[in-house]
Amino acid sequence: MAADSAGYRPRMTLLGALHPARRLGGRALPPIGLGCMPLSTRRRPPEEQAVRTIHAALDAGVRLLDTADAYAPDESEVGHNERLIANALRGRSEDVVVATKGGHVRRGTAWELDGSPQHLRRACEASLRALQREAIGLYLLHRPDPQVPYAESVGALRELRDEGKIVHVGLSNATVAQLEEAEGIVPIAAVQNELSLSYAAPLANGEVEACAERGILLMAWSPLGGLRAAAEAPGRVDAVRAAAEAHSVSPQQVVLAWLLSTSPAVMPIPGSTRPETIRDSLAAADLVLDPDELRAIGAAADYAERSEDSS
Ligand SMILES: NC(=O)c1ccc[n+]([C@@H]2O[C@H](COP(=O)([O-])OP(=O)(O)OC[C@H]3O[C@@H](n4cnc5c(N)ncnc54)[C@H](OP(=O)(O)O)[C@@H]3O)[C@@H](O)[C@H]2O)c1
Repeated sequence: MAADSAGYRPRMTLLGALHPARRLGGRALPPIGLGCMPLSTRRRPPEEQAVRTIHAALDAGVRLLDTADAYAPDESEVGHNERLIANALRGRSEDVVVATKGGHVRRGTAWELDGSPQHLRRACEASLRALQREAIGLYLLHRPDPQVPYAESVGALRELRDEGKIVHVGLSNATVAQLEEAEGIVPIAAVQNELSLSYAAPLANGEVEACAERGILLMAWSPLGGLRAAAEAPGRVDAVRAAAEAHSVSPQQVVLAWLLSTSPAVMPIPGSTRPETIRDSLAAADLVLDPDELRAIGAAADYAERSEDSS
């Protein structure tokens, strides 16, 4: 297959042979990224295993790593996940987009919000230091702060972009209305929202469609249903289990292949703490389900909206 104009060449390896590249701004990226949050929770793996997991993802072709300043066991280790990524990337030659976020703060182990421009500036500058980068490839507002007008939070990201500290601006946990408001302030390259079989609302409420229409990357967080559910939940859905058996692959791979098929804007960012699981997940980029399988899985998805406080 030919390389596209931005240099991404689909390969018959773990990543990207069959599902098209995703786009971040002008850049083509392999269709699945690595969610790094589980590498910095209270149950995080040893650092050596975490680094091996990131390297396994890179070796398989991953070029987007998702993190946040708040991905840490608690307040005392804010920036843990970003520092881990900086360590893992040291000496590697791949051109990797590191997507990080600001706007959540930790108090002890609790998650709180601060979307004020002052906090976002401090957070972005701390992320630059933790990542040891001169500019952040993609910086997202982690979550709207009800105490701060959205335009003020987004305006802070525009200033940081104008100063060259951010290459692309993104939003996380954003509605279509918030996306439209933000677009009036600064170009938005990515939206990162929850999207999985058990929470497929973005496919019904216009979020995926709005991103696809505008050429915005929709990063699907907790694509396997989240840390606690990912090992078991996909296999409990009949249509997923049937497709997994038919293709001799894991139910998790089937769910990721289904997500990839929902829109060329969608990039799942599965979390992983082991090379085995991330390699298995990445093989979804080479799995094409037939229309009947896709229909059956889509019919089993839960499109209901819910309000939930999540990281
Ligand atoms: N923007 C936001 O507000 C927000 C919120 C939550 C998450 N996120 C981002 O989204 C990423 C993904 O979400 P998540 O980590 O919460 O949930 P997830 O991706 O749905 O599930 C992660 C879990 O899936 C397991 N897993 C991965 N691939 C597997 C496979 N092929 N077979 C079996 N198990 C597999 C991993 O197990 P092992 O540990 O055994 O490898 C891991 O514990 C996060 O890492 C974070 O970067 C963003």
